[in-house]
Amino acid sequence: MDFYSLVTVLLVILITSMMANYAKLLLGKSKLPPGPTPLPIIGTLHLMNFKNIVKSLLDLSKKYGDIFTVYEGSKPVVVLCSYKAIKETLIDKAEEFSGRAYRPSFSDFTKGDEFAFSNGEKWKELRRFAMLTLGNFGVGKHSFEERIRVEARYLTETLQKANGSPIDLNYPILHSVSNVICSVVFGSRFEYEDENFQKLVKCVQDNFRIMSSRWGLLFDIYPNIMRYIPGPHHTIMENFTMMADFIKKRMEDNMKTLDSNNPRDFIDCFLIKMAKEGKNKETFYNTNTLVMNSLMLLFAGTETVNATLRFTFLLLMKHPNVAEKVYKEIEDIIGQRPPSFEDRYNMPYTEAFIYEVQRFCDVSPLVTHRELTMDTEIRNYIFKKRTVVTLVLTHVHKDKTQFNNPGKFDPYNFLDDNGKLLKKEYFMPFSVGKRICPGKSLAVMELFIFITTLLQKFTIKSPVPPEKVSVTPVGVGFVNFPPNFEICLIPRTCFEK
Ligand code: HEM
Repeated sequence: MDFYSLVTVLLVILITSMMANYAKLLLGKSKLPPGPTPLPIIGTLHLMNFKNIVKSLLDLSKKYGDIFTVYEGSKPVVVLCSYKAIKETLIDKAEEFSGRAYRPSFSDFTKGDEFAFSNGEKWKELRRFAMLTLGNFGVGKHSFEERIRVEARYLTETLQKANGSPIDLNYPILHSVSNVICSVVFGSRFEYEDENFQKLVKCVQDNFRIMSSRWGLLFDIYPNIMRYIPGPHHTIMENFTMMADFIKKRMEDNMKTLDSNNPRDFIDCFLIKMAKEGKNKETFYNTNTLVMNSLMLLFAGTETVNATLRFTFLLLMKHPNVAEKVYKEIEDIIGQRPPSFEDRYNMPYTEAFIYEVQRFCDVSPLVTHRELTMDTEIRNYIFKKRTVVTLVLTHVHKDKTQFNNPGKFDPYNFLDDNGKLLKKEYFMPFSVGKRICPGKSLAVMELFIFITTLLQKFTIKSPVPPEKVSVTPVGVGFVNFPPNFEICLIPRTCFEK
């Protein structure tokens, strides 16, 4: 066969197999909830605004309803886009919807050896162990507050050095919140000037940003093509490798000094568990899962809290009247003593303010794809095992029936007429169901202690007029980051009388 005939045969095979795949995809579509007709290769990506995926999904839901199907390339993804849809699935059928879908940007590195991107028994066991261990170190409980207060004090000292001149909060806050989770994983905090620590947290933040960019998105949809295309997505693996090396080094140090009766940190607890499992061939506990689970805790527990805190300060600059009310409550209830998490019961405005920051900023607007663990029926559709599902938390947080003028920032969304805190089931920044964020209680405590400590010490001033402060997030929609900004933190000397 000559060269041209060979090329023709190969092209015919390629086109026939593409057509067959496309026909299969259209056939499968009739069994899934409605949605736009996918095109070959790109699916429905042509309908996505790559600057704001969430908005594209919200627009599609107006046409196709609150459960609809989009296609990432040839992969169907069922979108849940209302509180009702999320309740009928993740809450009422929690077990069925508890799987996590393959996400190349994570899974290619961790190989599912941790509890955020694994499934089945491995996920259950590793998640249970992580939560139990965090609980044993007091995370989210009263005894843990002091660690957060210590970090908040270090942060205050660092910020005081700026003496009221404009500063960027990103790294100071990133270092402090990262130290909170480091104190559990590694048993100690790091100096903010420690270069290895700085590299570690930079890797965390850079990865979050790349994964939430168009590059990350394309890599997750077309991994086999994107592997050969140069771009920032290649840095994801390099950053994860650096993080894993850092953790491995700490693990080796811990091994040398381990006292089984006195675990100092998450790593020690994991090593003890590994020893207990002995020669059990089925065990999920080994040095690799130790490194990957530690990595996942650091990764998931850092940038989410940092982004929320930075949004908080942006919103305080934009809404000085809201800031005044929070200062007042801090003065009345906490005064000069260190804040305690218990104080929140007497500070409904501050608590409502924090809820509203989380609702309004929607740090996690689209939950990392879930996957069906078994066949199930929802609204007369049979969802097959392994169907990929995503939830648009933004829809719930911007629901007009629950929040007055949801596009406007207003802490009164969470206060009743008597000024009492309103808890709303439509408020779910940590998601719901069996995969609900395991760091929720830690994050809630961190937000309260960091915010009250900083506002006790500083008055917020914006270097630009408040109306010019932009709170529009950057990122394509999987994680919302605040835009870069500078802030003036004026030490509150008058309050220290
Ligand atoms: C304001 C801060 C935070 C927000 C908004 C947040 C939000 C979320 C959301 C929406 C999910 C997805 C749940 C789902 O699949 O339905 C999640 C999962 C997760 N979060 Fe958080 N999170 C925060 C802080 C933390 C912290 C401090 C930690 C660490 C202790 C953490 C660790 C994790 C892990 C490991 C998962 C995966 C759980 C699993 O798949 O079983 N998060 N988080």
